[in-house]
Amino acid sequence: MSLPVTETLTVHVPLDGGRAYDIRIGRGLIDAAGDAVAALGGRRAAIVTDETVGALYAGRLRESLERAGLQAGVVTVAPGEGSKSYAGYAAVCDGLLGLKVERGDLVVALGGGVVGDLAGFAAATLRRGVRFVQVPTSLLAQVDSSVGGKTGINAPLGKNLIGAFHQPRLVLADTATLDTLSEREMRAGYAEVAKYGLIADAGFFDWCEANWRGIFSGGPEREAAVASCCRAKAAVVTRDEREDGERALLNLGHTFGHALERLTGYDPARLVHGEGVAIGLALAFRFSTRLGLCAGQEAGRVANHLALAGLPTRLQAVPGGCGGAEAIVDAMAQDKKVRDGALTFILARGIGQSFIAPGVDRAEVMAFLRDELAADAIA
Ligand code: NAD
Ligand code: GLY
Repeated sequence: MSLPVTETLTVHVPLDGGRAYDIRIGRGLIDAAGDAVAALGGRRAAIVTDETVGALYAGRLRESLERAGLQAGVVTVAPGEGSKSYAGYAAVCDGLLGLKVERGDLVVALGGGVVGDLAGFAAATLRRGVRFVQVPTSLLAQVDSSVGGKTGINAPLGKNLIGAFHQPRLVLADTATLDTLSEREMRAGYAEVAKYGLIADAGFFDWCEANWRGIFSGGPEREAAVASCCRAKAAVVTRDEREDGERALLNLGHTFGHALERLTGYDPARLVHGEGVAIGLALAFRFSTRLGLCAGQEAGRVANHLALAGLPTRLQAVPGGCGGAEAIVDAMAQDKKVRDGALTFILARGIGQSFIAPGVDRAEVMAFLRDELAADAIA
């Protein structure tokens, strides 16, 4: 069944060198994708998706592409973080080559952040680079991962350690696809929405506290939130595309979160990315309080809001546990923000007042995590 396109919001990412692109946000965009993708030129459009999303949306997307005169094919991977692996990458590249994707053709990533990162990395490297389009279908992918050109896979030693910057040519965020997303994945994506308020926009965090239910239920707040996050991300990426500076702020909560994902073996049954980010956001604020940077009330407000939205905020919440403080700090040592072995954190002086803190003392982090784990054991 094809859906009519409702009013569409557009956010522009004004990168130079002919790499500027639009993010279109609205209900029903998948059925209108063909014309938008065909307008980019090329003969073929190869869809990369996962089994769950593919069963729901690949048929409609393919029909739309074919109606617009493109030759379309589909490469499907298993759902979940496990596909962002060496084996997943090889399977996608082989699938794309099997579909005879050439330099002038397009790869279309249809799915959540896993598919977007994986298909984007395959596109960045296939025949030394083919163009790609993001059709994000999870809240997390619509507000964050489909924008900004970070693509990649995980290595056994850490998250996102193999990758490339490769900007999409177009992002089509069909917000109606979120109607089929599980409640848990919706919550996980919401952690990244709240993150934008916490980084640099206290007013947006206030708005989230008042409106988060509308994002979940599919009210106009959903498109408004996706557009706000994309605007914020587009601005940062335009100023600092390759993360030489302020783009690192977008990793608020991620140093802790990535370590937890690694310690849970990237097993979505235990922890998905957004849940790790939620715990990481709460930890980043409590750590900032401990260092005397941020009022305890602010850290409490952050954790309360995330918990109200159904997200975990404590280490204890990780099913099966996440090891001791030492294991968590060791897992952090592979973070891409590590320089000469010193840890860099994103800390906060308050909601909307995050900053990059290089050279954080390992012993300080260890003591904080020990106290967190001890408090969890008592609670
Ligand atoms: P995901 O891609 O695994 O999707 C979550 C689950 O939801 C999957 O099982 C998927 O099949 C399912 N799903 C997706 N859309 C659906 C829909 N519309 N209906 C029903 N089911 C649907 O995970 P995610 O949370 O979207 O993305 C997490 C990944 O994104 C992580 O690997 C993370 O590292 C990456 N990420 C990348 C960036 C970046 O800038 N590149 C930013 C943030 C996160
Ligand atoms: N999600 C972090 C970034 O895109 O830089």
